[in-house]
Amino acid sequence: MQEQATDEGHPRPSPSARGRSAPGPRSWPLVGDPLALRGAKNMLEYLDGHWRRYGDVFRVNVVGQRMLVIAHPDDLKTVLSSRRHNYVKGSAYQSARRILGDSLLTLEGETWKGRRSLAQPSFHRRSLEKLAAIIRERGAAFLGELARRSEGKPLEIDAHREMVRLTLDVVVNALFGQALNVSPTTYQALGAALELVSNGANGIVLPAWVPTPHNLRLNRTLAELDRVVYDVIERARREQNDDGSLLSMLLSARDEHGAALPDRAIRDEVITLFIAGHETTALTLTWLFALLDGQPAVLAAMRREVDQVLGGQDPSFDDVAKLPYLRKVVDETMRLRPPAPAVVRNAVADDELGGFHVRAGDMVLPFFAATHRHPAFWPEPLKFDPERFDPALDRSRNSWSYLPFSAGPRVCIGNMFSIVETIILLAQILNRFELTVPPCAAVKPVMMGTMRPSGPIPVTLTPR
Ligand code: HEM
Repeated sequence: MQEQATDEGHPRPSPSARGRSAPGPRSWPLVGDPLALRGAKNMLEYLDGHWRRYGDVFRVNVVGQRMLVIAHPDDLKTVLSSRRHNYVKGSAYQSARRILGDSLLTLEGETWKGRRSLAQPSFHRRSLEKLAAIIRERGAAFLGELARRSEGKPLEIDAHREMVRLTLDVVVNALFGQALNVSPTTYQALGAALELVSNGANGIVLPAWVPTPHNLRLNRTLAELDRVVYDVIERARREQNDDGSLLSMLLSARDEHGAALPDRAIRDEVITLFIAGHETTALTLTWLFALLDGQPAVLAAMRREVDQVLGGQDPSFDDVAKLPYLRKVVDETMRLRPPAPAVVRNAVADDELGGFHVRAGDMVLPFFAATHRHPAFWPEPLKFDPERFDPALDRSRNSWSYLPFSAGPRVCIGNMFSIVETIILLAQILNRFELTVPPCAAVKPVMMGTMRPSGPIPVTLTPR
């Protein structure tokens, strides 16, 4: 294949390569690319290596499955928007369906469309205002506990561990509101399910009937999870609390024929919202702390904004829009460390992407983490610089070059909820503590479905 290097050194296909087979590493019968199996330990390094070598469309074969990885904004737009009907959530989402059932995240076609319009109002402004109050209340309780633990002295925390605990507390309360007497069993069942689905997302998952230790544990966890969630649904139906929780909104939602969602669908949506919305937000906060390493000016600017706008008070929903610098830091964090580094689709019919042939049945992987560092769209792509998200610069950028929440009709339904949550919690932390971040260069991003840190991120909180 003939390739032309662009100014940035990223090959794009020459006209003669149109419709040709995409480049990629050598593939062996049955095994495919043996490095992919090793790469499964850190998919990010593996995919990054091929991206640098082969360019914005490349092919890898993993145990008989052909996968096309795409990183150019034009191709992302094709797959997620203009020709999205050809790129569906097929076999790629099979392991997620075992846990989530048929929900917003896993459904396709008309059923998905109906479910999305039913759920969408739960994320409109009015609902977000109510959810913001829950976030603020849980944030204050959690940070109060940290302040007590610190006894007025500097307290070292592992940012990842504590942010996961904090967002777990927020999401459980945002989902279940007053219907839940949040018992340790509930937390445990939900936490264990999350762990299993995240780990399953990265490996080769054997069918559910194969009695591997993973499958046995998963089946036990799912049974416990179902018991807990159905119990909460039943209680919420009985008590009919309009407490602003996502569960109360789902229970009162009606389709165009006036029909409510059956319990099974509510169960699937509740577990999906929990899993999709919990770790991702924790990771944004975690990486934000890690990226502050060596950035005293950014930290000072965040603190200045919080002090000026909030004067020591916790933020309301309306305050979030008054903290534009915090928003820029959050956006830049998700550019360099997107909590969801990629999504997967299955091609229905043959097609062409970036001049390369797509075969029906191919898995296609929009690789957001690469697009976010693409030198043709981001000057000095590896530099942490929140000012890139200054509205003036932002407007001139290709809108398909930054997709932390994906894009098109299947864009993350919780995107604004997550931004509001991240900014409220961040402002609450800055209100209460001075932060010291030690050198974090050794902590690498590891792609495990989500983008996790390779080790602890020790941050010292000193009460102000
Ligand atoms: C930083 C935080 C978050 C990130 C990075 C993120 C990222 C994403 C991405 C990339 C998708 C597309 C998945 C695909 O097409 O396969 C998605 C979909 C989704 N997300 Fe999020 N998400 C976040 C927070 C949340 C929150 C807080 C919720 C809910 C409480 C949520 C609920 C969902 C749901 C239900 C979908 C499926 C939407 C559909 O297909 O109609 N997410 N998210």
